[in-house]
Amino acid sequence: MLLSPVMSKVQALILAGGKGTRMNSSRAKVLHEALGLPLLEHVLRAVRPLHPDPTCVVVGHQGAEVEAAFQGHGLCFVPQAPQLGTGHAVQVARPLLEAHPERTLLVVNGDLPLLSAETLELLLATHAQRGAVATLLSVLLDDAGGYGRVVRGLDGRVVKIVEARDASAEERAIREINVGVYAFEVPPLLEVLGALRPQNAQGELYLTDVVGLLVAGGQRVEAVAAANPQESLGVNGQGELAKASRWLRWRRLEQLMADGVGIEDPETTSVGLEAEVAADVVLRPFTLLEGRTQVASGAVVGPFAHLVDTEVGPGAQILDHCFLRGTVVGAGASIGPFTHTRPESRIGARAKVGNFVELKKTLLGDGSKVPHLSYVGDATVGPGVNIGAGTITCNYDGVSKHPTHIEAGAFVGSNSVLVAPVTVGEGAYVAAGSVITHDVPADALGMGRARQTVKEGWARLRRERLKPAGGKE
Ligand code: UD1
Ligand code: CA
Repeated sequence: MLLSPVMSKVQALILAGGKGTRMNSSRAKVLHEALGLPLLEHVLRAVRPLHPDPTCVVVGHQGAEVEAAFQGHGLCFVPQAPQLGTGHAVQVARPLLEAHPERTLLVVNGDLPLLSAETLELLLATHAQRGAVATLLSVLLDDAGGYGRVVRGLDGRVVKIVEARDASAEERAIREINVGVYAFEVPPLLEVLGALRPQNAQGELYLTDVVGLLVAGGQRVEAVAAANPQESLGVNGQGELAKASRWLRWRRLEQLMADGVGIEDPETTSVGLEAEVAADVVLRPFTLLEGRTQVASGAVVGPFAHLVDTEVGPGAQILDHCFLRGTVVGAGASIGPFTHTRPESRIGARAKVGNFVELKKTLLGDGSKVPHLSYVGDATVGPGVNIGAGTITCNYDGVSKHPTHIEAGAFVGSNSVLVAPVTVGEGAYVAAGSVITHDVPADALGMGRARQTVKEGWARLRRERLKPAGGKE
């Protein structure tokens, strides 16, 4: 929806100062993560598209940590100490509001990770159209639980909000709840803000009491229903945090499926909000894509794959039980089953990395193969190289890390140990079972093991020697 031109400029205040007592955690509530991002980041993602100026965050409990986590995001922080309730959280921002009294104020609780930008736009547009001094977001719930109830008069107009703990039985039966998102005209808000009193079950200054005060003063307060009731989910405890993750996950997967991504089992699949998945990718069950992971068209990932900050090229296959971090996988490459790659690894086009292989900070050239049971670290491997089963790069001497170079077309026999720093030249061979401590020149054979000796008849003689006297076998 486009913001209507009659709307005034918007400023935003996000309330994130509360202790989050019900989380039973030492971490600030808004720093807890749902689908890989802090709760506060989810709220900011809904608020940012409205371009509020400024966007301020009220911080209190663990304020320093919250501020540190959101440095450089163009926010301003308003300290609240002690934390005397949501009304008090707005009171401490009074000097800020006085600076721009003509800008509509959007107030958003910091614990609403499902909130969408569209809903905020709808709230602001309705607020402007109806000429209200305050407009709150509400939803109808079958079970209104601990949420504040929106009390309406006989004429249907909003009269006040009553907190669940302070509500009469009759008020508790109300299904329309306060989401914790409000648009205010600043001058009338500032007029009543000082009149809040902590006369309630929690002994706090409730922002919600502003509604009753405005209405009592003859002002117009409106309520707008959120498009989707899920948006009202406020995270107070670990159960609600899990529910938020689940709903965010589903919302993300539905979007991806609408965009043409195949998801065999959405119940067990998770794609973070910063991950990108192209159309015609197939995500098999139990696949997790986290961080800035990107998967290109035609790739198949999973089952049981976990990718973090990893780029998968077109048509590549990530087979069962792979854990890939900070890795680039080239077009048409085949990874797994049971591969572990660590950051700064790059796997070339059509390359193959197989079972029980670990790569670390390694470049693997196009079409090269490390099919089984290897550790390759700090290595640069050219194209068309074959690294036999059980090959290990000894990249660490207990003090420093050293590089291994394996040039184009080289063949490293099974169970070889490449003691870095070392180079295996272009087209060279390393005999199976070698310990390679010196460079192997191009086209040479490097052999670093004891030569085999054969003792003819040895086994037969031994048997005869051990035969018990009397000749019985
Ligand atoms: C609040 C509303 C309730 C609404 C619900 C929606 C009030 C009094 N009640 O209740 O009507 O249904 O949200 O989820 O507002 N905060 C501060 N400083 C404080 C206290 C809280 O910044 O001193 C912040 C919190 O960090 C939180 C937000 O305000 O992000 C809401 O506070 P919370 O305690 O979660 O309010 P609820 O009891 O959920
Ligand atoms: Ca809450």
